[in-house]
Amino acid sequence: MKRIAVAGPSLALVKYWGKKDEGINLPLCTSVAITLDSLQSRVSIEDSQKDHDSCTLNGQDASLDSLRGILATLREQASPEKKQQFVHIEAENNFPTGAGLASSASGLAACALALVDFFGLSFTTRQLSSLARLGSGSACRSIFSGFTLWREGKEYAEQLAPPTHWEELRMIVCVVSDKKKEISSRLAMQSCKEFSPFFSQWIRYNNTLVADAVSAIHSRDLEKLGHCMQASYSAMHATMIANKYPIRYWLPQSLVLIKHAEYLRSKNIPVWETMDAGPQVKYLTKEQHVDAVLSSIQDVAPKTQSIVCKISDGVRFQ
Ligand code: PMV
Repeated sequence: MKRIAVAGPSLALVKYWGKKDEGINLPLCTSVAITLDSLQSRVSIEDSQKDHDSCTLNGQDASLDSLRGILATLREQASPEKKQQFVHIEAENNFPTGAGLASSASGLAACALALVDFFGLSFTTRQLSSLARLGSGSACRSIFSGFTLWREGKEYAEQLAPPTHWEELRMIVCVVSDKKKEISSRLAMQSCKEFSPFFSQWIRYNNTLVADAVSAIHSRDLEKLGHCMQASYSAMHATMIANKYPIRYWLPQSLVLIKHAEYLRSKNIPVWETMDAGPQVKYLTKEQHVDAVLSSIQDVAPKTQSIVCKISDGVRFQ
């Protein structure tokens, strides 16, 4: 029977945007994130019938580019006969892929676990985090459950607190568009590093948000955490918009949802928004407000699909 590795996306509250080393995804800034349930990547691996590695994503042939570092690292450590074997990887996401919903984080975290198992190796969680990072930076956080921290320049992420630490927290993912983004986060980060006049300020500023975000998580202070989230995603998008070759992931509907969060807060409903490399808006709130928030989204943005996520377990076999 095929083993299936599953992982949820790592949604950053304080963002990672910029690499110290492009080849191996070492971050220039520290990020703080939560691992989500409801959205899931599933990966299974078998011996390839071909004379090369292959991969399908949601049933279609897919590129192995982001897996090359992971495969090379594992083959270096595998037994002589295992390293000769070619793999066939089948990956599936139950949510839009490449649309700013961190599918690369969950997908590559699940691939890392499934491949370590396939090659007959045994890794610590920290080694697994470091391995997943070679595929996609944010994947190193998806290895862990709950609240995570990935420090500037570090090879692996760490857990700040388990999901049980703050059980009433919910992330409502508002899918504004399920189209694949035109520019990948990899290219967009590179472009900002080279061409955004705000890039170095962005890195300095974002790092100043980390201590408050971490203490807000420890003391379960949603308002304090919300301010850090807003500051981080706003500065990240400002850096992109000011780029010499502007990167504008926002759609009109994204702004509608941002303004709506503002409106809800004015009515004493604590909802704090964030965005990633795509038009989707994610609302952080508490369980008791979810129904009110969902019905209000239907009023202002009826075409939006909203997915309610809890804070989840890390990567695992099903
Ligand atoms: O790991 P990547 O290359 O998919 O980049 C993730 C970038 C953001 O989602 C925008 C921020 C983050 O910290 O996850």
